[in-house]
Amino acid sequence: MLYESLPGHKRGLVFFIAICVIFTQAGIWAGRKRAQDNFPDQSLVQKSKLPFVKSEDTRPSIKEHPIPQLMGEAEVNYRNLLSRQSKTLKEAIAEYKKRYGRVPPPGFEEWWQFVEDNDVIMRDEYDAINEDLAPFWEIPPQELRKRATLAGHLPAVDLVRVRDGVAKAVNLRDSPDGSEVSARARGFLSIIKRFEDKLPNLDFPINAMAEGRILIPWEHRKYPNLTEGALRQQLSGDQPPDWRGEGNVWEAYRRTCDLSTPARRLYSSFRASSSTTRNRSSSLVAASDEFDFAVTTSGNYSFCQNPWAHYNQGHFFSDWRTIPVLFPIFSPAKASGYLDIRIPSHYYYAQTKRYTYGWDPVNLELRPIDHMETPWEMKSDQIFWRGASTGGGSSPPGFTNQYQRHRFVRMASEESYNNRTVVFADPPSSTNYVHTHVPTVYLNEEIMDVAFVKVVDSLNYPGGIRALLRDHRFDDGGVNLGDHWKHKYLVDIDGHGYSGRFFSFLESDSAVLKATVYREFFEQWMQPWLHYIPLSPSYQEIYNIHAFFSGATRSTLFIANSTSAALPRSKRRSIDGDRRLRRIARAGKQWKRTMGRRVDMEAYVYRLVLEYARLSSDDRDTLGIDV
Ligand SMILES: *[C@@H]1O[C@H](CO)[C@@H](O)[C@H](O)[C@H]1NC(C)=O
Ligand SMILES: *[C@@H]1O[C@H](CO)[C@@H](O)[C@H](O)[C@H]1NC(C)=O
Ligand SMILES: *[C@@H]1O[C@H](CO)[C@@H](O)[C@H](O)[C@H]1NC(C)=O
Ligand SMILES: *[C@@H]1O[C@H](CO)[C@@H](O)[C@H](O)[C@H]1NC(C)=O
Ligand SMILES: *[C@@H]1O[C@H](CO)[C@@H](O)[C@H](O)[C@H]1NC(C)=O
Repeated sequence: MLYESLPGHKRGLVFFIAICVIFTQAGIWAGRKRAQDNFPDQSLVQKSKLPFVKSEDTRPSIKEHPIPQLMGEAEVNYRNLLSRQSKTLKEAIAEYKKRYGRVPPPGFEEWWQFVEDNDVIMRDEYDAINEDLAPFWEIPPQELRKRATLAGHLPAVDLVRVRDGVAKAVNLRDSPDGSEVSARARGFLSIIKRFEDKLPNLDFPINAMAEGRILIPWEHRKYPNLTEGALRQQLSGDQPPDWRGEGNVWEAYRRTCDLSTPARRLYSSFRASSSTTRNRSSSLVAASDEFDFAVTTSGNYSFCQNPWAHYNQGHFFSDWRTIPVLFPIFSPAKASGYLDIRIPSHYYYAQTKRYTYGWDPVNLELRPIDHMETPWEMKSDQIFWRGASTGGGSSPPGFTNQYQRHRFVRMASEESYNNRTVVFADPPSSTNYVHTHVPTVYLNEEIMDVAFVKVVDSLNYPGGIRALLRDHRFDDGGVNLGDHWKHKYLVDIDGHGYSGRFFSFLESDSAVLKATVYREFFEQWMQPWLHYIPLSPSYQEIYNIHAFFSGATRSTLFIANSTSAALPRSKRRSIDGDRRLRRIARAGKQWKRTMGRRVDMEAYVYRLVLEYARLSSDDRDTLGIDV
């Protein structure tokens, strides 16, 4: 019976059974707890002096590895998505009405023409726009327009202003002449310039920062009449941009949660003692384990249900104030619970040396192949990441060591003899999957090339700069974007916000492993396990991802007493795994070149601004086009 020929629910069942079989046969995942990388306390780590610790397990084999299943499903899903895109304007309007229960906004025909003229592949997948704008249908249009203009007086919000068919960026708070407008507002302006003449007079408030901004208390969403006071306070003019010790993101976030959720029931979760922060059984990091592959990234993860997990994400410690009133703020990304309106990041749209693959900064032109690109066969099999020790703020201080980047660098540079369970094919390239326990120190040495390149914010690290340098690998050499292309595996991790390097990583000939708590405009357009490998926020499964695609490391084979341990590197590599990894790298590149183009971002923004224009119009309930 062919897996792909099964109906969806049967496929799900087969998949589930396969997973169960793997888990029971291997019998290795029950109740095992290791001292984790996010437990910096090394006394928890039991060290062994033996060079290799031999496993006594009987090496039961696994019938099917879940990764080919995940890849197979991803491909089917994606093929289905592509094949059902509307082919005519008429179909697109019908699809629109079916999805959203209303007719498309005025200007939709011209948008369709734009999409046709520019070979935009995604023609129906704009649910993100509908989702982001939905809360604003609850606000009367005149109030929405008022708030859009007033938002220009909030800290770190610029306005992109359309007047008589001409768009301009202004910073009402600091420099009304527009001279001090953020790069994000300028980025949005350059997109909207493409169709400014098609828009009515409007104000688009653009978030000047990487972090999401809008967190509305749950009570205020339920009883909008409570909003007035908060609105007046926001506009009183004396709001500082940062917290200054008065509140923090997590406190604001908690209030967005339903009263019945654990996040609301905690007395004051940010003051929880450090021993409770280590209660991994309820944390985001504990949610996954070494052979538990993420189906997608973590944009919908519920921090309301899992309040402890917030300690593992820097954005909850950002110094910048969030906004508790529903202003229409356009932001490049949002985590679950935020009500920002997503737009493409200026890092993706602009062309720069630091963020654009193939950019030639001398001749100011884009090349199809980056001058530092490396042939696949010559790329290293190591997992590569470089970045600064950023990723949050210090509100409240003292939690930096838990942030997403710090956890990853520490995990990858850990030199302990803690065992990790590695599942691999033995002999290499076969489908006879066995497992063994391998000390972390060997794995890290063999497969990890991960380091900070820049010390940022060391004062806030518990123990200061000395502890920061002691606990993490630092590579003083620095890194250029092009240095990444020497490696098959590129890890992409959030910084202060979403990662602006993602599109360049995708476009390279390397495969991207992405961990993020953010959702961006392209969410519906891209398929995890086809265009990139989604990573859980704990990253614990990364060793088994590597073992699947690249084969077991020498020490893994040695510990498992495998006769393959003596083989040279080229013979130990998994042929099928490497082919599959390369396929992901190619699919990512293909995606970037066909769906992640600047014109695709324009198509997204074009459709978004048409919706926003209707939403802001007094007769929004009757406006629209039909056939
Ligand atoms: C690692 O696994 C081996 C074999 O299962 C075991 O003997 C050893 O004690 C483990 N090491 C640690 C540090 O737990
Ligand atoms: C807001 O509305 C709720 C329910 O309609 C009502 O019970 C409450 O008294 C109102 N509050 C204010 C401040 O007007
Ligand atoms: C840790 O989490 C478990 C499961 O949610 C809970 O039962 C336990 O009380 C927690 N322990 C602490 C110290 O918070
Ligand atoms: C989050 O949920 C939305 C709505 O169900 C879905 O379209 C989207 O793909 C999900 N995103 C992630 C990252 O899981
Ligand atoms: C490897 O061989 C040693 C010695 O013969 C044995 O004790 C150990 O259990 C074996 N390990 C595995 C994983 O088969």
